[in-house]
Amino acid sequence: MRVVSGIQPTGNLHLGNYLGAIRNWVRMQDQIPEDGQCLFFLADLHAISMPHSPDELRRATLEMTAALVACGIDPARSVLFNQAQVPAHAELQWLLGGTARMGWLNRMTQWKDKAGKNREGQSVALFTYPVLQAADVLLYQATHVPVGDDQKQHLELARDIAQKFNNDFASEEAPVFTLPEPITPPDAARIMSLRDGSKKMSKSDPSEMSRIELADDADTIMQKIKKAKTDPEPLPSEVAGLESRPEALNLVTIYGALSGENPDAVLSRFGGQGFGAFKPALGELLVETLAPISARFRDLLEDHEALDAILARGAARAREIGVPTLDATYRALGLVR
Ligand code: TYM
Repeated sequence: MRVVSGIQPTGNLHLGNYLGAIRNWVRMQDQIPEDGQCLFFLADLHAISMPHSPDELRRATLEMTAALVACGIDPARSVLFNQAQVPAHAELQWLLGGTARMGWLNRMTQWKDKAGKNREGQSVALFTYPVLQAADVLLYQATHVPVGDDQKQHLELARDIAQKFNNDFASEEAPVFTLPEPITPPDAARIMSLRDGSKKMSKSDPSEMSRIELADDADTIMQKIKKAKTDPEPLPSEVAGLESRPEALNLVTIYGALSGENPDAVLSRFGGQGFGAFKPALGELLVETLAPISARFRDLLEDHEALDAILARGAARAREIGVPTLDATYRALGLVR
C-alpha cells in the first residue's frame, strides 16, 4: 500500500481541505500497515500555473508545512516534502507528455472552470497541470490517493495515462505504472462555500466569509458561522428534507463530519429547530476541533529552520523512492542515458 497525495500551498488550509482530504491523510498514516508508506507533498510546482507572487509562495509553502504537521501528519512516519525539491516530478511529467492526449486534457472541468472564456490567455502550465498531477502519483507507484471530490477527475486521467503508457511501452506482466485509486471521504467529499451552497469552499474565493480557515480564532469562526447563508425554514428531521436547501445541507454535513455522525443522526437531534439554535452549536463544535490544531500551527510557525529541515529530509527520501520508476520510464521509452 502506497498512499500519495498533495495540496497546493496557496492561501491557508481551509475546512474543505481538512475534512475532504487532510483528515483522511492522517487516518491513513495512522492505519497504514508496516510494509506500506505514505507520501504527502506541497504541490508548489502546480501553484505557478496561475499568476502568483514568489514571496507569497515561499511563505505559503512553509505555512502549509506547519499546517499539515499541526493536523497530525508526522514527518517521522510519513514522507513530507515539496515538489520543487524533487526534480523527478517535472521530469516524469515531460516523459508522460507523449502519452497524454489533448482531448483528455480539454475535458478537464478544472481547466474549463479556471480558464473560463479566455483559454488563449491561460498559461500552458494550467492546461498541462493534470499531467504533472499524474506524474506526482505514478512516480511513487501510488495505490491509494486520498482527495476531495473535485480531484477525482484528475485521478481518472492519471489512470488513463498509466494504462496507455503500460499498453504502449510495457507488457501486461511487467507494467511500468500502478493504477492509483482515489479515496474520498463519504461524509465530506465536497464542502461548500458558506456564502453560496452551489460553489465549493475554495481558497480562491475572494470572500473570506465563504470559508473557515485553520488559523481563524474562535471569534472569527463564530462570526463566520453566524453570517453563513441559510434560509428561514427550521431544520427538517431527515436529510431528504434538505434536498433543495444546499446551504442548510452543507452546515449539517459539516456538523456530521466533525461529530462523526451521519446527517440523519444530526437532524434527529436538531430537526424542528431553527438556525438560531443550530449555528451556535456548530460554531462551538468547530472551535473545539480547530483550536488545538491552530495552537500547534502557531507554535510550529515560530521555527522556520525546523520546517525547512522537515522538507529537506522528506525530499531526500522522496528522491530515493522515485528513482526506480523514473529509470524504468526512460528505459521503456528507449531514451539512452
Ligand atoms: P487543492 O490544493 O485544491 O486541495 C487539496 C485537497 O483538498 C481537497 N478539497 C476539498 N475537499 C472537499 N471540499 C472542498 N471544498 C475542498 N476543497 C479542496 C481537494 O480535493 C484536495 O484533495 N491538484 C491538487 C493538488 C495535487 C494533488 C496531486 C492531489 C497536485 N498533485 C496528486 C492528489 C494527488 C489541488 O489543487 O488540490
